[in-house]
Amino acid sequence: MIRILYFSTARTSVSHSDVDDIVTHAVENNARMGITGALAYNGRNFCQLLEGDEGKVRALIETISKDDRHSGFKVIDERAVEARHYADWSLKRVSELDFSEIINAMQA
Ligand SMILES: Cc1cc2nc3c(=O)[nH]c(=O)nc-3n(C[C@H](O)[C@H](O)[C@H](O)COP(=O)(O)O)c2cc1C
Repeated sequence: MIRILYFSTARTSVSHSDVDDIVTHAVENNARMGITGALAYNGRNFCQLLEGDEGKVRALIETISKDDRHSGFKVIDERAVEARHYADWSLKRVSELDFSEIINAMQA
């Protein structure tokens, strides 16, 4: 499996309720693809970790990177993993002040 962490900058028109919609849709999609992870949004930036089958995670990352609700998409880190950190979450919505939870999870 692979685990990937990226940062991006939300388009200024994006609201917290838009992010709620993204998460609702992603929770279903990710569960269907066997992808787990977490997303934090601080009102300006996104920080997201995704993990699962390498081909599926890379395909989703490619889709997300082209989404015009954000820009400045930048993969910060990626690595092969044996076990999932967010095994119980198809997409956990992390507190907006806690990017560090996701950054630390990258190393777990
Ligand atoms: C910051 C951000 C994070 C996203 N995360 C996910 C995700 O984890 N899973 C997902 O399916 N879509 C995610 N999306 C949405 C995708 O870019 C895309 O709109 C969606 O996968 C299309 O789903 P569909 O094929 O069901 O229409 C995210 C979008 C943004 C802007």
